Amino acid sequence: MKIGVLTSGGDAPGMNAAIRAVVRQADALGHEVWGIHQGYQGLLEGDMAPLPSRACANILQRGGTILHTARCAEFYFAEHRVLAAAKLKATGIEALVVIGGDGSFRAAEALQREHGVACAGIPGTIDNDLPGTERTLGFDTALNTAVEAIDRIRDTASSHGRLFLVEVMGRASGMLAVHTALACGAEAVLYPESPDDSYEALVSRLNSNWLRGKRSSIVVVAEGDTTGRAMAVGERLKRDHGLDLRVVVLGHVQRGGSPSAIDRIWGSRWGCEAVRRLDRGERGFYLGEVAGALVAQPLSRILEPQPVPPGDLGRLVSVLAR
Ligand code: F6P
Repeated sequence: MKIGVLTSGGDAPGMNAAIRAVVRQADALGHEVWGIHQGYQGLLEGDMAPLPSRACANILQRGGTILHTARCAEFYFAEHRVLAAAKLKATGIEALVVIGGDGSFRAAEALQREHGVACAGIPGTIDNDLPGTERTLGFDTALNTAVEAIDRIRDTASSHGRLFLVEVMGRASGMLAVHTALACGAEAVLYPESPDDSYEALVSRLNSNWLRGKRSSIVVVAEGDTTGRAMAVGERLKRDHGLDLRVVVLGHVQRGGSPSAIDRIWGSRWGCEAVRRLDRGERGFYLGEVAGALVAQPLSRILEPQPVPPGDLGRLVSVLAR
């Protein structure tokens, strides 16, 4: 069998581990792998080539994706998916491993449903916001990157007795923000799914901290929080309360860097599992982790509206910041 592999959407540390595992497990089972460059964009342009085992040497520890990635708006339109299916057919690719997040899996689901392309998904996004899995590639690394950065900010915050607002990624999800806040001992966290997330609640929290003698605070703000981006919240606090605060936007720093051991291990496990399942004739699934176990979900599950709230961790942040 000829198996295509692509990475799509925002890159995430651990994607290279998954690519390597797909290639080497396929090799072990006698299948050939083709690398599709720049995600679905490359598929539309026919930008693909054989990806031999040796081409995956020394990539396990590298961040980013050796296949490059793209956000491909054309793929939302059925006529472009017709073209993509034709490119796969012309190359003789019978199965496709897609490493990416929600949008990438939706595209794979459509490709399989409309054109019968056998698709397998490996979750790769630092946002960790997919239903049916407690982990996605890149989340653990991004979390550790954010924690390391905020530990440094904490030193200067406490020296100057200042408030810092630190924005972490997560367009529609507070997963990264809440876990970061908990791991850093942040005084507050603003995130989209929070039940009591408001500017007024933040001000009252900061006030009571001040009355308790706290002279410096870290507030972690998820990029997609409804109160606003960190810069806007900071400006408002300065205007309303004259605070000498600073804003740090961690941004794409969180997307880069060498993957953590956890991300390498899950990238490797999921890459091997995807190929083994395709080898057994399974189609239309994506892999995940639930309670430490490797699980598979039907690809169609991605279509169900299922918010992935970060649970009770947000509340713990305020309890612990006393
Ligand atoms: O989807 C992952 C993610 O890092 C989000 O957290 C963020 O909002 C987005 O990608 C940024 O995308 P881009 O790199 O295209 O600006």
